[in-house]
Amino acid sequence: MLEKKFVVEKATDASLKITALGLYYAELNGHRVGDAFLTPGFTSYRKMLQVQEYEVKLKAGENVIAVSVNDGWYCGRFPFEWGNRSYGDRCAVYAELNYEDKKIVTDENWIARESFIRKSGIYDGETQDFTAECKTLTPCEVSFDASVLVPQICEPVRNIERVSVKEIIRTPQGELVYDFGQNLTGVVEIKTPEDFRGTLTIQFAEILVHGNFYTANLRSAKATDSFTVNGARTLCPEFTFHGFRYMKLEGVELPKENVTAIVRHTDMKHTGRIYTSDTRFNRLLENVVWGQRGNFVDIPSDCPQRDERLGWTGDINVFCRTAAFNYDIRAIMNKWLADARSDQSETGEMPFVVPNVLSDFGTEAIWADSIAMVPWTLYEMYGDVRYLTDNFFAIKKFIAAREKHMVNGLIAKGHEFGDWLALDKEMFTEENPVGRTDVYFIANVLHTNVLRIAMQIAKLVGDEPSEKEFRIKQTQLIKKIQQAYFTASGRLALDTVTAQVLALYFRIVPAAHREQLAKTLNENVVRHGYRVVTGFIGTPYLLFALSDNGYHDTACRVLSNREFPGWLYEVDMGATTVWERWNSLLPDGTPNPDGMNSYNHYAYGSVMEFVYRRIAGIEAREAGFRKVRIEPKPCAGLDMVKAEYESVYGKIAAGYERQGEKVIFWTEIPKEVESEIVLPNGKIKSLQGGEYSFVFKDVKSR
Ligand code: BGC
Repeated sequence: MLEKKFVVEKATDASLKITALGLYYAELNGHRVGDAFLTPGFTSYRKMLQVQEYEVKLKAGENVIAVSVNDGWYCGRFPFEWGNRSYGDRCAVYAELNYEDKKIVTDENWIARESFIRKSGIYDGETQDFTAECKTLTPCEVSFDASVLVPQICEPVRNIERVSVKEIIRTPQGELVYDFGQNLTGVVEIKTPEDFRGTLTIQFAEILVHGNFYTANLRSAKATDSFTVNGARTLCPEFTFHGFRYMKLEGVELPKENVTAIVRHTDMKHTGRIYTSDTRFNRLLENVVWGQRGNFVDIPSDCPQRDERLGWTGDINVFCRTAAFNYDIRAIMNKWLADARSDQSETGEMPFVVPNVLSDFGTEAIWADSIAMVPWTLYEMYGDVRYLTDNFFAIKKFIAAREKHMVNGLIAKGHEFGDWLALDKEMFTEENPVGRTDVYFIANVLHTNVLRIAMQIAKLVGDEPSEKEFRIKQTQLIKKIQQAYFTASGRLALDTVTAQVLALYFRIVPAAHREQLAKTLNENVVRHGYRVVTGFIGTPYLLFALSDNGYHDTACRVLSNREFPGWLYEVDMGATTVWERWNSLLPDGTPNPDGMNSYNHYAYGSVMEFVYRRIAGIEAREAGFRKVRIEPKPCAGLDMVKAEYESVYGKIAAGYERQGEKVIFWTEIPKEVESEIVLPNGKIKSLQGGEYSFVFKDVKSR
């Protein structure tokens, strides 16, 4: 803790600009400054460090400013079990308090002392000791590189919601466990009673196995907070967060009322909601939303619980549109993309994770493609062309890097993550869980999409030579893929669901063979019993490829299938967030023995986009939803589906409801939005702003 005392003649307003290498929180005269947590946030610190600014009030007489700082992402144990001091080896604080015409800045006159926070880590949790002697550590050394400072870019992490204990459990092994009923990300606040003296420890877990507290899936993350106190106190860790549903308590027994979970994440505005007539299906959608909340802790991450919690590029790429429907993610994604650009290699390769705390770079389909696909998705969702202009240079560099892996015009070498975690098992091993689909087929197909995006950006910014270049490249690549992966008669030579899905979705299949491929895909899915065998790459497009090619009923059956593997299987197994793997929990309730089981991974939650766009039928016809097409497509088994989306032009809502013999299509459109609705009889009607409903005889699902 760094501290400075100073005297002010009369009470006055002041502004505090502050940042740290590590994580900090500030107090003025014993009161916390602001309501942000995990500040200054997680960025690629050597290139960009955010500064927070707070309005504060100074009192007449002596004032004390105290800033506590800890390792955090900057110099803590991060990432994985081996990571340490990713960005530096010492914490530091820079603070500047401005009032009247005076300025107080961190310098060698500040006093440094130990804090009651004895140690803290993102993965391992926090140790607080209110009985410890907090020794003075002065003198302070003054050195701080101010060249990378930028103002705060996105909403900070805040305490968003309090969740009370649902049940106290004594496990078969005798552990005292508190169940919050929801897998969430945040911390737990504990109130100790007056007569408590000593140390209490809390540890976190996502699941119980055979009724017992289970932490093996956290790998090396200790996820443990401990507090030493004398008497009554309200305790809460400061510089860590956990992903958990269950908490184990040792050292004391407390009633429910003394234990509360605090959900902490980036404070984004909630912009989208879907309601349906099916409680199981609603639970799935809630799981997706909770997954988003738990994985938007200052960066879009893969998971919030184990020794990982990294900004994996592929995960946010597939989840981005769902995320943008659910919450206003403009600011957090602006920040993330700024880091993505600055962490890109000189020669255009992308880091696996952003901020890049691994030293890996590559050009992998979906993962590295995120430099083009994420900005494009954000442009389509928000209509802000800056997502394109800001990233165009990086996209061009990436395309050049990708071409280095081409042989005769096709990507044919280099590392790929492939259809990660797909269950069409033949190639499936623990080291190489990539599913069965040819990784370079995937790479080439996805690259046509990157080229299409580049071409469209070039067109939008009026860069004709680039537009032409990318158009030619895209056409040539599609031709090459057709030559290499389709038989002379036009049949796709690969037989996996993912290959068929991608060929349809990204329009690789020659037009004359489209119908046949769609039929083959449908048969393939039916043969798999409507179960999901696709991985991170096939899954986000699976239902679109079916529905948009005449097999909407099949898409709905896959979505509502309760057997393993599938979305509702997880719900039936008690999931309250979306899992990393379809088989993270086996039907007998035990974790997949291959390991790497996160119970809060949003990638497969990307299915929610399909519900907004196809089932409820809210589809943008122009970037930012300036023009929309409303086309609800009822699903068998879902009698009512209603979606609302707060677009930049106002609230757009749509859906349907079956009532006995009839089905009602319903929509609400803001004034400025030009829209049309496609009715079950195929008629298209233009609509002005307002609320509409149309009644038809039951169309069942189409
Ligand atoms: C992460 C992922 C990520 C993947 C890439 C995993 O460890 O949790 O979600 O995309 O690695 O291979």
